[in-house]
Parts: sequence; structure tokens; C-alpha cells
Amino acid sequence: MTLPETMRAVEIREPGGPEVLALSNRPVPQPAQGEILIRVAWAGVNRPDALQRAGSYKAPPGASDLPGLEAAGEVAAVGAGVSNWSVGDAVCALLPGGGYAEYVTTPAAHALSIPTDMGLREAACLPETFFTVWSNVFERGGLAAGERFLVHGGSSGIGTTAIQLANLFGARVFATAGSPEKCSACTKLGAERAINYREEDFVEVLRGEGGADLILDMVGGDYLPRNVRALADDGRLVQIAFLKGPKVELNFAQVMLRRLTITGSTLRPQSDLAKARIASSLREKVWPLLDAGSIAPVMDSEFPLDKADQAHARMESSGHVGKIVLRVV
Ligand SMILES: NC(=O)c1ccc[n+]([C@@H]2O[C@H](COP(=O)([O-])OP(=O)(O)OC[C@H]3O[C@@H](n4cnc5c(N)ncnc54)[C@H](OP(=O)(O)O)[C@@H]3O)[C@@H](O)[C@H]2O)c1
Repeated sequence: MTLPETMRAVEIREPGGPEVLALSNRPVPQPAQGEILIRVAWAGVNRPDALQRAGSYKAPPGASDLPGLEAAGEVAAVGAGVSNWSVGDAVCALLPGGGYAEYVTTPAAHALSIPTDMGLREAACLPETFFTVWSNVFERGGLAAGERFLVHGGSSGIGTTAIQLANLFGARVFATAGSPEKCSACTKLGAERAINYREEDFVEVLRGEGGADLILDMVGGDYLPRNVRALADDGRLVQIAFLKGPKVELNFAQVMLRRLTITGSTLRPQSDLAKARIASSLREKVWPLLDAGSIAPVMDSEFPLDKADQAHARMESSGHVGKIVLRVV
């Protein structure tokens, strides 16, 4: 099949609000050695896309300047040395950027199969949150069955994935969210206790349970010292974002006296090899659960590619529960 020379893509005209997202024409990218070219059917929308658009999260060197960290579609071409995928295969993939477009390239090792009985629309919403949650909660955070796990932003794309996975792997799950509706979504997904942070203090709730063994936090700011108070002895805090800012005064004596671990990571700047290792672990440990239908992404809403601005506005309204997706075909 011959490929077109140009494609529709959404670019960031300048740093700013959702209105700076504009449809444009770009050359179709060529897959380099070890890469595949995907004809995108659906592209997932993530909070880091909004941060990139606002100018506070730069694309790493060598990555596309177009937003979009995950997509699902069909392999349209393969680069030299690719043997695990063929033209026509349906895939979902973690992307270095460039997902808000009709075609995108990514390392072949960062693509995964479409789970059994799952559509491309849902599959497009798997990679960014599953790579992030798996690597931070299970690999970095070492969550074990029976442990008390607290995830903030429980109704977010990340939160809904973390609740389901932690529950499936036998943890006791606690989640915070900002409304009764969002709290109810968290308990339906498997949280034994959802905490409406506007009405209740998560520190008191967790201390009443003996403290959290692991906290996944994206809020930061005043949550940092509060997370430390909410942790059980030997507890771990994994930081994946700072919606309320990264700077805070913290008494580190607690870290020493109660043997706490504070760590964190961000996915995008990691090496291709590190991401391939996460993909491989997901393929082995998590994709069978998706194939079996034991877990699925929570879908909030969809927008056509040329309405990416509306998708970002929805995300930044924080009215959503789960994932927002762009229809590209
Ligand atoms: N480190 C990594 O590799 C990595 C990868 C992907 C995403 N992330 C981060 O993970 C977070 C979630 O990403 P996502 O794509 O799932 O986004 P999302 O669905 O938009 O989730 C953000 C959530 O944060 C909550 N929130 C927003 N502002 C808050 C505040 N000031 N205080 C408390 N909660 C607040 C909102 O829930 P409420 O309405 O309940 O407040 C919302 O559900 C983002 O911060 C993103 O940057 C990190």
C-alpha cells in the first residue's frame, strides 16, 4: 500500500491554553531502524499533553514536537530490523510524542497487541497509564498483596488504572477524589474506601487503618508532608507529578525514624531500553489480565482529532472520570 506524503496532525502553535492546538499538515514520518509506523485510529489524551501544550513539559530531544503519548491503529510500515510486527498488525503503543496525527513512529518494542475483544478506541488508552502505573506502583513501589495502597486522583486516567491493578494483585486500595460521584467511581473499580478530599482528611483515614504501605501521588505541594504522616512505618511514597507544586518544607526526621522511602519517576525521558523492559513486563504480567477481561480502561469521552482543544478543556475542567480519547480516522 502506498503511503501519503502528508497527514493531518494537531500541533501546538505556541505555549498557551487549549486554543493553541491547531490542525495542520505535516509530512508522514518514516520509521527508522527498529521502529514501526502506525496508521493511527485513536489517540489517548493525557495530562502531560496539556502540560506540554502550556509550555511546562518539553518534548525530549529527538521526539516529535506534536503532542500525543499513546495511540492504537494498524502497522503501516516497519523499519529495518523489525521482526516482531508486520504491516497490517493491529497494535497499541507508547509513543515518544506525535500521537495527535494520522501517522506516528515509535520503537517496535514499545508496541503491544490489542487485548482480546477490546476495540482500538479502548486500546489507545492503555499504554501511558499502564506503563506509568506498572513501573511506579509495582516495580519502583514494590506493592505486595495484602498491603494498604493509597492513590491520589483516584478517578484520573492514572488513578482508575492504579485502583484496578492494585486490587487485582491483592492490595487493599484507598483512593482520594474530589466529588461524591468520583468517589463512587473509585469504589466501583475496587477501592475499599474512597476519600472525598474536600470533606475528609486522608491522613486521618489512613492512620486509622494503620497507615499506607505505599502511596502513589500526583498532587505534591502540601500533600508531601501529609503523605509522610499517612505512611505506615517502612512505607513508600512514589511521586509521579506535582499538580500543586514540587517545593515544600518537610521534616525528614520522620523518614529516618520510621524508615520511609520517598522516590518517584517520570516515564517520557527514560531510555528506549527502559521503556522496552516495562513493555515486556506488561506483556507477561498484565496483558493476560486484559485478554481475560479482568481489567479495562475507564472511558470518559471521545472527540474528533480537529477538536483536540475541546478534549484538553474537558481534561483541565477535571470533570472527567477515566480516559479521554481522540478519534483520528
Ligand atoms: N510520572 C509519569 O511518568 C506520569 C505519566 C503520566 C501521567 N503523569 C501524571 O499523573 C497525573 C494524572 O495524569 P492523567 O493523565 O491521569 O490526568 P487526569 O485524568 O487529568 O488526572 C488528574 C487528576 O488530578 C486530580 N487533581 C487535579 N488537580 C488537583 C489538585 N490540585 N489537588 C488534588 N487533586 C487534583 C483531579 O481529580 P479531582 O477532581 O478528584 O481533584 C484529576 O482527576 C498528572 O499529574 C500527570 O501529569 C505522570
